[in-house]
Amino acid sequence: MKKRFNVLVTRRLHRSALDELEKRCNVLLHTGKIPIPKKNLINKIKDMDGLICHPYDTIDEEVIINAKNLKAISTFSVGFDHIDINFAKSQKIKIGYTPEVLTNATAELTIGLILDVLRRISEGDRIVRNKKWNQIFGAYDYTGTEVAGKTIGIIGMGRIGKEVAKKANGLGMNVIYHNRRPVSKKIEKMLKTKYVSENTLYRKSDIISLHIPYNNDTHHLMNSKIFKKMKKTSFLINTSRGKIINEKQLVVALQKKDIQGAGMDVYESEPIKKDSLLLKLENVVLAPHVGSSTRETRQKMSDITVKNLILALERKKLLYSV
Ligand code: DGY
Repeated sequence: MKKRFNVLVTRRLHRSALDELEKRCNVLLHTGKIPIPKKNLINKIKDMDGLICHPYDTIDEEVIINAKNLKAISTFSVGFDHIDINFAKSQKIKIGYTPEVLTNATAELTIGLILDVLRRISEGDRIVRNKKWNQIFGAYDYTGTEVAGKTIGIIGMGRIGKEVAKKANGLGMNVIYHNRRPVSKKIEKMLKTKYVSENTLYRKSDIISLHIPYNNDTHHLMNSKIFKKMKKTSFLINTSRGKIINEKQLVVALQKKDIQGAGMDVYESEPIKKDSLLLKLENVVLAPHVGSSTRETRQKMSDITVKNLILALERKKLLYSV
């Protein structure tokens, strides 16, 4: 008989995925406070062979050291900056993640934020709800910016960056990008895009959209120095990770009109701090980290997360391994 593995799941997954997991493993499902408090996590993970976690769970050295039997971590996300990957690997722990299936959902949200902040949709919604419609009757009282003909600068031409480029083409935008390495000429041609230096991208873009992972190199990549290089009429969009932007300096740039607006799905602290000055600005659209949050995508992420974990525990090749 096959050995049953003990696994901890830090948040409820789709029922069908959990059923699949339960066929093969003894599952301890955390159903309380999200994210699971660290003390709880450390307590519960002690005898576990496997862990299914989410971006809000910090899986650092302290957690991993306490998990003496841990052989596999499977995260319900494409990002894995919440896991100490180097330390986990040094402990021979396999790590799975869920790229590809959330590419379209995240790219759609990116386009949604662009349209929202440029056309001032959420801002208008507040005007309507606050019964202030009569204040914007004049022909020029409430004008937005059209996306067609504008230049979008994509930082990070991975899966999501490419999908954003494709969708931006459909909206009649010019697409330029910066990446560690240029993508192939064939892909550039297909995506009607051109590789430019970082500085050129900052100077030329009407919209800058971030599609890079968070790490030491990308920490506060977007800061006051960069905002000063950007066009005063430009917009910044972030659906990757919050700490890539220095949020305090972004607030100042938005207040001083160094840039015109921002559309954000991710923040330096999540949930966003109650006293964040971003909450007071009209020229930003704030989504609650829902880039991958569609019914279609979350189901696929659940299935892959479970498959990755079982494959790793059975010492087989993962569908997607970090
Ligand atoms: C991810 O998968 O990393 C997204 O941010 C969703 O949490």
